[in-house]
Amino acid sequence: MTQHATIAAIRRHLDEVRRGGKSIGLVPTMGALHAGHGALIDRARRESDHVVVSIFVNPIQFDRQADYEAYKVNLAADLQFCEVRGTDAVFVPGVEEMYPQPAATFVEVTGVSDQLCGKFRPGHFRGVATVVTKLLNIIAPDKAYFGEKDAQQLAVIQRMVEDLNVAVEIVPVPTVRESDGLALSSRNQRLTADERRVAPVLYRALQAGQSAAQNGAGANEIREAALAVLREQPSIRLEYLEVVELSGVRRIAAAIWLGSTRLIDNVSVTARTLQSAS
Ligand code: PAJ
Repeated sequence: MTQHATIAAIRRHLDEVRRGGKSIGLVPTMGALHAGHGALIDRARRESDHVVVSIFVNPIQFDRQADYEAYKVNLAADLQFCEVRGTDAVFVPGVEEMYPQPAATFVEVTGVSDQLCGKFRPGHFRGVATVVTKLLNIIAPDKAYFGEKDAQQLAVIQRMVEDLNVAVEIVPVPTVRESDGLALSSRNQRLTADERRVAPVLYRALQAGQSAAQNGAGANEIREAALAVLREQPSIRLEYLEVVELSGVRRIAAAIWLGSTRLIDNVSVTARTLQSAS
């Protein structure tokens, strides 16, 4: 596995790879790698000749400075993780390399960015769409892999790629969960033991919504079924819970706060529901 800290160096490396006729798969990450990221790397390994993982904690997508500062990355552990999973190259730029001057150009995906997380984290998806555009321009991969865990982010990127004619295939990867249902996230490590015990209620609530949907419930009833489960845990604060369509997939998406940690999750709602709801 090779490691590159500058844009010039990774471009030189990938020019060579392309000359060998190999396809390139990119897995963009912010480090603190876990089995969720691992599933993206595994998928890339299966369908791309040369797997690149980028590790960059992107300052312009954090709506709160404290959240940025609390974002803990252990680079040695992340490199080891990538190596073991068969990554070919890691791109690990510093902030100076990605933003040598304050950015004057931003990528904004209107509409899809404005709801759900976008409503509560102003500027977040503009920061994501901008850095992903930069990464796609730097790496120029054939395919890029994104988790369904962040379904709105996935939808924002799919729309950006369509609108701007970026020559890349965006590959969605299903959410990886703990055995109790909690979606893997680097933010889970910030939960106290008590909060960790409560956290799986989020997925249980989404599942309750999902079964309501399977029984033919409409959007309001789906939402109520999920909210009823969340109410069992008064210690959680609900940010949003909505039944929405993201990139043509109907989903129940939610964000909750447990103490000072924000957790998001979503599930898709089956085709049968789509028919019965329409
Ligand atoms: P990060 O939170 O590190 O996530 C990197 C990728 O891993 C994203 O595509 C995310 O959806 C996926 N992922 C995270 N947890 C997952 C899980 N439990 N199951 C499946 N996939 C999971 O998302 C970002 O970084 C950044 O916004 C980024 C796209 C890198 C731009 O800065």
